[in-house]
Amino acid sequence: MVFKCMSSSKGCVAINKRNIVVALDVGTNRVKAAMAEIGYSRDINILGITGAPSRGLRKGNIVDIESTSRSIENCLNDLERLTGVEVSSALVGFSGGSVYAINNHAVVAVGNSNYEITQEDKERVLQSACNVALPPDKTIVQAVERQYIVDGYDGVKDPVGMVGSRLELEVALIVAATAAIQNMQRSTQRINLQINKIVYNPLLVAESVLLTTEKEMGVVLVDIGGGTIEISCFEAGSLLFTSVLPVGGEYITKDLAIVLRTSVEEAARIKEKHGVASPDMASHDVFIDVKNIQGKDSKKVSQQVVADIISARVAEIIEMIYTELKNFACQERIPGGIVLSGGEAELTGIARVMEDYMNIPVRIGIPENLRGIQLDYNKPQNAAILGGLIYAANYLNISSGKRRGFSGLFDKLAYWWKDLFR
Ligand SMILES: Nc1ncnc2c1ncn2[C@@H]1O[C@H](COP(=O)(O)OP(=O)(O)OP(=O)(O)O)[C@@H](O)[C@H]1O
Ligand SMILES: [Mg+2]
Repeated sequence: MVFKCMSSSKGCVAINKRNIVVALDVGTNRVKAAMAEIGYSRDINILGITGAPSRGLRKGNIVDIESTSRSIENCLNDLERLTGVEVSSALVGFSGGSVYAINNHAVVAVGNSNYEITQEDKERVLQSACNVALPPDKTIVQAVERQYIVDGYDGVKDPVGMVGSRLELEVALIVAATAAIQNMQRSTQRINLQINKIVYNPLLVAESVLLTTEKEMGVVLVDIGGGTIEISCFEAGSLLFTSVLPVGGEYITKDLAIVLRTSVEEAARIKEKHGVASPDMASHDVFIDVKNIQGKDSKKVSQQVVADIISARVAEIIEMIYTELKNFACQERIPGGIVLSGGEAELTGIARVMEDYMNIPVRIGIPENLRGIQLDYNKPQNAAILGGLIYAANYLNISSGKRRGFSGLFDKLAYWWKDLFR
């Protein structure tokens, strides 16, 4: 892959011909990837989007590195075939049950004698804000700068060049299990995929589905995937609270499979094609063919029965989300309401059921912040990868890496050897 020289927030990093960025979302249900070419004015031209079944994750956590690597490899091979561009590096979304956020605050005195705040002051206050005591098995994945305060004046997004003697920073620190991060790194290392940056998934989703005004006013982003639900509250333009619940659409699918005595794959198909979130949205006259576990004989089940099963689980999921909002104490401070993303946001009627239960406006977060995207791709389950492209276009330093692909035996041995002494 070749890149052209691009001025970024961190400066120009390489003289290349094309700016190609790849965003990767390693989900519990599907691995998804998107590639785009970034133009001179940071316009995003999408070259391709692919997805592959995910094997090796449970509830957002990697439990099998080999299978996860293969799933990523399958997804990226498809992306290479689709675009004709070799993939050697990617921006990677991160989530999982181990993630939580800590809000922290730091203060430094401005070093400069004429009190002009420099990049160095900014880095010092950021470093100080990241100085929190964590258990040895936890790591800060990302520090999200919420606001700088210069001599008591708050709401500053970038203090460099301003005049002041006291620089403060409010930061949200995204913390995760060290092992979870390392497992992600090892899964990508196995196929020689270089990680440009690891970003907390909801921050990527927010890039593609939230409006700037919603983030300013106060909004909750709820991403319901296959194995996790990420709940993130944004206010004054940045992340305020976030948490990850270890449940998702699989919870509904498995229940459907058990009650209908069918396979998980068939249950997922029925849910996605005929499922509705509330019994009053189903019809008694519509009958669905349901194959048995062996996938041979089939029986007819009314849509009403399917809806009864799905709605019971949907109600539980919504109740869990509402409890979390109450824990954040943010139901009263979100005039922007709730924005739903992730595959389960595509379940017919889920926004209405949620709205009725919580008495808060709910809308589906279609990734609309990218222009010219094909209708097929413009789905809530692609919100993280599409947001990843926006994030990469705005913030990322880009560099080319060596050829991706499963390492040979020698490489693998060297890799395990290094791991032993890490
Ligand atoms: N049209 C649809 N109706 C209902 N559910 C759907 C639909 N399309 C996809 N889903 C469900 O969405 C879920 C997958 O969503 P998504 O791709 O966002 O998850 P993931 O990113 O792989 O998982 P996670 O984020 O939890 O790690 C599955 O449970 C799938 O059945
Ligand atoms: Mg997901």
